[in-house]
Formats: sequence, C-alpha cells, structure tokens
Amino acid sequence: MKEWWQKFFIPLAGEVMFSPREAQAKVEVDQVLKNVRLPKGAKILDLACGTGRHSIQFAKKDYDVTGLDFTLGFIKTAMQSSDKHKVKVNFVRGDMKKLKPHFGANEFDLVETWRSLRY
Ligand SMILES: C[S@@+](CC[C@H](N)C(=O)[O-])C[C@H]1O[C@@H](n2cnc3c(N)ncnc32)[C@H](O)[C@@H]1O
Repeated sequence: MKEWWQKFFIPLAGEVMFSPREAQAKVEVDQVLKNVRLPKGAKILDLACGTGRHSIQFAKKDYDVTGLDFTLGFIKTAMQSSDKHKVKVNFVRGDMKKLKPHFGANEFDLVETWRSLRY
C-alpha cells in the first residue's frame, strides 16, 4: 500500500507549493549559507528537493549539488530547470528515509531540507 506522501505530491500540488516560492529560492539559499562555512565545491544534498529550486541556486554558487526527491515528475522538472539555468546538478529519485542505496556514509558536507509550505 502506498504511503500518503507517495500519492500527495502530484503536479497540481507542485504548482501550489513551488511556483509562488520560486523567486524566494535565492534568498533562502543565501540564508542557509550565512549560517555555515562551506568552501566552493563542497558537496550539498538537497533532501526532498522538489523541482530543484534550491539545488539550482546552490549549483549557481559553485557547490557540488545532489537533489533527491521521491516524486518522479518533480525530478524531471528539476532536470529541465537545471538545464535551462545551465548548471550541473545530480538529481536522484529516492526515498529520503532510505539513503543507503544511493550514497555513502559522510558523503555530504551539508544536507539541506526545506519545507516550502506551513502545514
Ligand atoms: C514541501 S515540498 C518541498 C520541496 C523543496 N524542498 C522546496 O522547498 O521547494 C516536499 C517535497 O518532499 C518530497 N518528499 C516527501 N516525502 C518524501 C520521501 N519520503 N522521500 C523523498 N522525497 C519526499 C515531495 O515529493 C516534495 O517534493
């Protein structure tokens, strides 16, 4: 049986969640980076990246970014968007509760996750 989060995140939910916050992504990423000291090229995991709005902003700042999300449609949009912005991001489809098949221990310098809705 599917869990709620496997059915909830459909394109319409994406429209509601991401479109209004697209313009905020740079501000939010700057806010994160103000609180950590990360050298350029550091490895960042954008956990539950959605359509990759933060992943792309991190990549624009020369970080080595991976975005992981379960929703295939969001991952596809994220890939198109990173192409459009001409940045390289490694997008992975997966369950954030099961990271072992995808990544090694201590693989990232920063793991960022952002909840774009107040629910
Ligand atoms: C509120 S959205 C936030 C997306 C992104 N961080 C942002 O701020 O634009 C939550 C995201 O979590 C993803 N998600 C929910 N449960 C997940 C899980 N178990 N594993 C991976 N992704 C998950 C959804 O597909 C959705 O893209």
